[in-house]
Amino acid sequence: MKDAPVTIRNATNADAPLLAEIGAKTFYETFAADNTPEDMAAYLAESFSVDKLAAELADPAGCFLIAEAGGIVAGYAKLQNGQPPNCVTGSPAIELLRLYVLQDWLGRGIGAALMRACLEEAARKACETIWLGVWEHNARAQAFYRKWGFEQVGSHVFKLGDDLQTDLLMQRRVRS
Ligand SMILES: CC(C)(COP(=O)(O)OP(=O)(O)OC[C@H]1O[C@@H](n2cnc3c(N)ncnc32)[C@H](O)[C@@H]1OP(=O)(O)O)[C@@H](O)C(=O)NCCC(=O)NCCS
Repeated sequence: MKDAPVTIRNATNADAPLLAEIGAKTFYETFAADNTPEDMAAYLAESFSVDKLAAELADPAGCFLIAEAGGIVAGYAKLQNGQPPNCVTGSPAIELLRLYVLQDWLGRGIGAALMRACLEEAARKACETIWLGVWEHNARAQAFYRKWGFEQVGSHVFKLGDDLQTDLLMQRRVRS
């Protein structure tokens, strides 16, 4: 099953419970070891309730992509239209707000498949730039983004529970 072909689909409103579950699971798997249980619990509660995901799915500014391998959910991405920070150049710009692969599926090309789908979606929306924020200590994700041609253009503060953290801001042209 782990070498099954990867398919990517657009999420529908019916995916709110699924996205809430894998959103919380992947965020926990990625960041629980480096944050206090209190900060994690606060962030998970405010970010991954089914109601919150249902509202995000109903918002036309957002776009969720779900990766499945052999019919099993392996990861997801979210693109978001909106005003980018000043350091981001190129217009229009779209944010890669979330890109998460479930732990069991890391390193099997799911991230690459999601990134390709995000770039195609951004191109369909006629965006010139795609940008993202990544935690300064998340070396694996930074290496992945650099490999995909993203370059650092600034930084901003990200609030996880009560903890203020520094995210690097990175961008690339949608069409390289
Ligand atoms: C960043 C992320 C999306 C990449 O997805 P992925 O499916 O692991 O990526 P791929 O399999 O397409 O490629 C990953 C690269 O890491 C390498 N890799 C594989 N296993 C690895 C491991 N255990 N540790 C480090 N790198 C590994 C792969 O070899 C590949 O490099 P290569 O193409 O040069 O061979 C994924 O690591 C992830 O979800 N991380 C946790 C969540 C996260 O940090 N998201 C980003 C928040 S900003």
